[in-house]
Amino acid sequence: MNEAILNLNGKDFTLPTIEGTEGEKAIDISSLRNISGYITLDPGYQNTGSCLSAITFIDGEKGILRYRGYPIEEIAENATFTETSFLLIYGHLPNDEERKAFSLRLTEASMIHKDMLRFFKGFPATSHPMAILSTMVNALSVFYPSFYSEDFMSNTFDEMATVLISKIRTIAAYSYKHSTGEPFSYPKHDLRYCGNFLNMMFDSPVKPYIVEPEVEKALNILLVLHADHEQNCSTSTVRLVGSSMVNLYASICAGICALWGPLHGGANQHVIEMLENIQNKGLSIRQCIDRAKDKNNKFRLFGFGHRVYKNYDPRAKILKKQCNIIFEKFSIKEPLVDIALELEEAVSRDDYFTERKLFPNVDFYSGILYRAMGIPTNMYPVMFAIGRMPGWIAQWKEMHDTIPFKIGRPRQIYTGSTLRNYSETEKEKKSSY
Ligand code: ACO
Repeated sequence: MNEAILNLNGKDFTLPTIEGTEGEKAIDISSLRNISGYITLDPGYQNTGSCLSAITFIDGEKGILRYRGYPIEEIAENATFTETSFLLIYGHLPNDEERKAFSLRLTEASMIHKDMLRFFKGFPATSHPMAILSTMVNALSVFYPSFYSEDFMSNTFDEMATVLISKIRTIAAYSYKHSTGEPFSYPKHDLRYCGNFLNMMFDSPVKPYIVEPEVEKALNILLVLHADHEQNCSTSTVRLVGSSMVNLYASICAGICALWGPLHGGANQHVIEMLENIQNKGLSIRQCIDRAKDKNNKFRLFGFGHRVYKNYDPRAKILKKQCNIIFEKFSIKEPLVDIALELEEAVSRDDYFTERKLFPNVDFYSGILYRAMGIPTNMYPVMFAIGRMPGWIAQWKEMHDTIPFKIGRPRQIYTGSTLRNYSETEKEKKSSY
């Protein structure tokens, strides 16, 4: 095994190194403070591995994404979202029997407790659906089995995973129906995961909804592409919160809140709002780009850039293709697509973006596709959350299966005042009156 030698003030400290199965290398600094008195400082965790994980592999330089070893392109083309969920959580593709049993469990768990329906009524119709979603997911912990530290490795995990993957789509659709004031549509046992969601969103007593296979397939691809993305902001949140041994629902509620932000899963909503601004406010592409480059302006080009990808996000590539399929099939003329393509083209020719390796990310095209499916803009982060659910669950499980188990607790470098005295300060205050 290679070792790293760190020289501090003339003294050598030897640290073990570690190499992952895809050749990723790390210096294991877990003993550093004990042996040297030093910690490492890495704001934003740009260079910090928080765990060992066998779930998702990303090579950001090459634009590679794999779930449990399978390329995302193959999974998106061939697997259903439920198969993908099983793969991420349990580590292998389900055989026929496992697939049927898992699907049946999801189908049977699709209703939400009738007492929970009362909660929806308490939210103003204008509520952001992510606020409703996070609240309701946390509330699942009091209606459905959840386990706490004393029965940590119990079989309840499978049940909780099913409850979450199945009920999140019901809660999401209900939050939309609540905002429109229409009656809720119940889940149907004869529809598949994605079709069932679309039906709950759009079926109404006056206009029954027919699930179009192309739309169902596009939604399946969208959810599969979002299913996991290793230690991103929301997943790290789920792990950190879960490391206190709080229940799975509460951990995932925290992940949903982290996902909501515009720099993470909320970016898809902001992409569309940005493109609409270009369209409606007469903002030119050049003005938009110049604003994003201006260091005195906090504005960023939403849907561009990524902490890990320094190449084209493979998910964006798949979604761009999927957009073309849906637009062609339904003869959709969407001016925002032209604006998006123009923006992407202008960005690809601009040194500021090429030097920083800022490419379109998954959120750049997902919003355009959701829009074509009739999903309202403020629901886009919710769609992301539905897709990310199996990844959060798989990562939470992996963390809890890891021995030794450690609560997540970073350190800091204190930069505040040194020791001072309360009465001395009071005296000084009085004398200055
Ligand atoms: N527009 C303009 N400039 C950008 C953008 C952008 N979208 N993204 C990064 N930059 C610039 C930064 O200003 C910085 O410039 P500097 O080196 O001159 O200071 C440089 O590129 C590096 O950016 P960082 O902020 O250091 O990169 P980081 O890895 O911390 O951030 C992030 C990644 C948050 C995704 C960022 O690229 C961003 O804000 N993008 C827009 C929001 C977005 O689309 N988020 C979705 C990401 S995908 C997902 O979460 C599902």
